[in-house]
Order: sequence, then C-alpha cells, then structure tokens
Amino acid sequence: MMGRLYDMAQPLMRVLDPERAHEAALRALELGLHPRAAAASDPRFAVSAFGLSFQNPIGLAAGFDKDARVPDAMLTLGFGHVEIGSVTPLPQPGNPQPRLFRLTADRAVINRMGFNSAGHEAVAQRLEKRAGQPGIIGINLGANKASADKSADFVAGLERLGRLASYVTINVSSPNTPGLRDLQLPDALSRLMEQLLAARARMNRKPPLIVKLSPEIAEDDLAEVIGRLLTGGADGIAISNTTLARDGLSDTAHTAETGGLSGRPLFRRATRMLARVYQLSEGRLPLIGIGGVDSGAAALAKIAAGASLVQLYTGMVFEGPGLAARINLHMSSEIQRLNIDSVAKIRGAEAGKWAQARP
Ligand SMILES: Cc1cc2nc3c(=O)[nH]c(=O)nc-3n(C[C@H](O)[C@H](O)[C@H](O)COP(=O)(O)O)c2cc1C
Repeated sequence: MMGRLYDMAQPLMRVLDPERAHEAALRALELGLHPRAAAASDPRFAVSAFGLSFQNPIGLAAGFDKDARVPDAMLTLGFGHVEIGSVTPLPQPGNPQPRLFRLTADRAVINRMGFNSAGHEAVAQRLEKRAGQPGIIGINLGANKASADKSADFVAGLERLGRLASYVTINVSSPNTPGLRDLQLPDALSRLMEQLLAARARMNRKPPLIVKLSPEIAEDDLAEVIGRLLTGGADGIAISNTTLARDGLSDTAHTAETGGLSGRPLFRRATRMLARVYQLSEGRLPLIGIGGVDSGAAALAKIAAGASLVQLYTGMVFEGPGLAARINLHMSSEIQRLNIDSVAKIRGAEAGKWAQARP
C-alpha cells in the first residue's frame, strides 16, 4: 500500500521544482511514509570493508540527506549504508536558488547547491539521538565557503562528528566550493592526510577515513594521487563526485547551467576511473563506486570494475525510492545465475575492460 502510494507520487514529484520535490521527499521520509524493503540482507550480499560489515553493497550517496534528517528511513528502503552530508562546520545556506536542475531526457541532474548545511552542531545533535542504533552511517565532511583554511574544516569535522560516524568521507571533490578541489593536488592531499591521521590518533573511537575524488583528475596525475592516498593512510577511496563535463547530453534547457553533472552521463567516465584506481591500488584498498547507478546491472558493473561498495543518488530521482531494493533483487538473481556464493566474488573481474573503455 505504502509502496503504491509512493509510486503514484512519482509523476507528481517530477513536475515539482526539483528542490521542492526533494524537500517533499525528505518530509515524507521523516513522517515514515515510505515502503520498507524486504531482502536487503542476504549472506551472499555481505561485504566487509574498512573494518565494517555491510549487509549489502548498495549505499546512499552524499547530498540526499545532507543534515542527517532521515538516515534510518533510508536504511529501511534497502540501502546497506547511508552517507549523510556534506556537513560544514558552521551552518551556511549554500548558493542562491535555482541551483538544482533535472535533465530528464539524459537521466541526469546538474547541481550547484554549494554545501547548504545545518552545520556540525545541528547534525551532531541529530546523530546523538540515534546513537547506538544499528545501521552503517557514514558522515561526509565539507568546508565552509568563507573558510580560509579548508583543511582545518575537515579536521574540525573529524573531531566533532567522527565519534558518531561508522566512517568519515573527506569530500575534496565538490565542484561548487571555490578552491576545495585544490586539496586533491598531491602535496596538499598528503598534508591533509597527515593532519587527519594526527587528529584521529587523539580520538578514542577511530573511524575509517575515505577520500572522495572528482572525475576530473587528469589521467597523468591519477597514479600520483592514488600513491599519496595509499602512503597517506586512507582507508578507502570513493570514485566519484559530479563532473563539470557536459559531453553527449541531449537536454537543451539546462545543459549550460553551472554545476556538477550526475546520473547516467557520468556512469562511463566514473566507472573507467574506478577501474583505473583499482588497478593502481592493486585492489589493496576498498573502493566505493559512485556515478550513474540506476539499475542492478549498473551496480554490478561498478563491482566488476573494482568497487567493494556502490553508492547512488541521481538514479533514485528518476527511478523512485524502491531502487535500492530492486538492485538487491537483481543481485540475488545474478548470484543465482552465476552460481557464486558471494557478490564480492565478482569484484574487479572486469577492471581491465573498464580501464580501457573509451573516455
Ligand atoms: C543534488 C546533489 C547534491 C550533492 N551533494 C553532495 C555533497 O554534499 N557531498 C558529496 O560528497 N557529494 C554530493 N553529491 C554527489 C553525489 O554524492 C554523487 O557523488 C554524484 O551525484 C554521482 O552519483 P549519482 O550519479 O548516483 O548521483 C551531490 C549530488 C547531487 C545530485
């Protein structure tokens, strides 16, 4: 019944202004008006990564639940983990609206939200209320627009929110905060990792640290960046954030909007980069594959390209809140068909093919 209500609401959501539709979805989730997924856990879906045991590899990507309003509702939709954020130290409104655009013909979104965030304190208070409850909640950290020392914002986030997080993601890859992506330059990245590791060493609970990269890192620089992350002590790498590229789009209304592009047109670029990172890191680090996942086949392609875990956001805008559950069902039938005992067995099986894919 609830599932049907939600499906019926989908066409309505698509005619609403995208940001209003998003707020309406968050409110409905806060009220518990969402379907509950069956079969989100199956021993064959289990993945262990950075010391955590995930019920299934499919997670909610950062940006949907920036302020930790509905993490538990999202877990009941069939996600094996939920990444909240990005959270900035001080509350900030983000960029002026409109700042979120649906490219329906391309199954894509352009956003220039610019880290609208309730800030560390508000998010900490919400998460403290649910502390001790089961479910893997990652916290994605961002930096304030006005902050002169963006590295210090990440350290502050780790110190304030780290103890409430199953893992922490360092988002140095949003295209919508000027200067942020400079922290992906090798020397800046090494310094940031040093600061984060020093801060974590002082903490009682030491959450795993994941670094989220942009798909725009130049081919020639990628080996150096991955080398720095391996030696710098990252526990995992997330690939990727949104892209500034605009190739192959058919939408005419919004293509020229400034911001990061996500969804189907990002799939190939992000999956290729994921496979290259898998090869460069020789499978030694867990990788989170993100970008354009909107079906079970796309999720499995990420795993075959080298991902231990998969995240999605834009796919849900077009496919609805049942997408994670449908991906789990698809995984189940593929595991059966391939006659394997674990989805983790296909990790990296097609990394060679994906790494060679045309850009
Ligand atoms: C509206 C919107 C807001 C986002 N906000 C964040 C964010 O705050 N932090 C972050 O790391 N990624 C953010 N992302 C990027 C997503 O987490 C993800 O990396 C990207 O959208 C690619 O995945 P997708 O194609 O499944 O959406 C955002 C994406 C969208 C569409």
